[in-house]
Amino acid sequence: MRIDIITIFPEMFEGPFNHSIVQRAKNKGLVEIYLHQLRDFTEDKHRKVDDYAFSGGAGMVMMIEPVAKAIEQLKSERNYDEIIYTSPDGDLLDQPTANTFSTYENLIILCGHYKGIDERIREHFITKEISIGDYVLSGGELAAAVIVDSIVRLIPGVIGNEVSALSDSFQNKLVSPPVYTRPRDFRGWKVPDILLSGNERLIEEWKFEQSLQRTKQRRPGLLEEE
Ligand code: ADE
Repeated sequence: MRIDIITIFPEMFEGPFNHSIVQRAKNKGLVEIYLHQLRDFTEDKHRKVDDYAFSGGAGMVMMIEPVAKAIEQLKSERNYDEIIYTSPDGDLLDQPTANTFSTYENLIILCGHYKGIDERIREHFITKEISIGDYVLSGGELAAAVIVDSIVRLIPGVIGNEVSALSDSFQNKLVSPPVYTRPRDFRGWKVPDILLSGNERLIEEWKFEQSLQRTKQRRPGLLEEE
């Protein structure tokens, strides 16, 4: 899979993409991530990417021209399954969406900024608008990093234990059960006996019950959807 990210802050991705699972996926050749500096697609000497809104009011608007050039160049090189724009008014990112994205060959993510982007970019280039939650970030970079992380870990071969990604919270519309490791007893706080019983069938039943109970308590909305 190939992911192209268009941003004015490529450095912001150094942390999230150079560690942990995303780093491993890159090293294994399972994902290629390219960061494109939007300013490289400007022609003026100030490398200007934003301008005042015609409507007036506070805040700058991302200009259409550099974005159009960046996207058109990428599109001339290959076909993209989706051109995503990160925005608080987009569709909420959820696990089914991440699953779908993880099956794609090529993806562009345009990171939003300022007050927004010229609406004509959304109309003519963007095929999908994604929000990572009902709150406002300073820019789309953190959202793009979240989207990429949620996708990359689902690509077959990225996580050693295939079962692991599929048993995550939300994959079956349930949150995960609690987990424990050694020691069995820490200051009198004990690991549930059942987990030490060695009875796999009972342990699976216990985990499912715990998941169900937790989902009812913490995220009842997940059980009501559809
Ligand atoms: N840009 C600013 N806030 C955002 C959000 N919640 N999701 C995606 N992109 C954003």
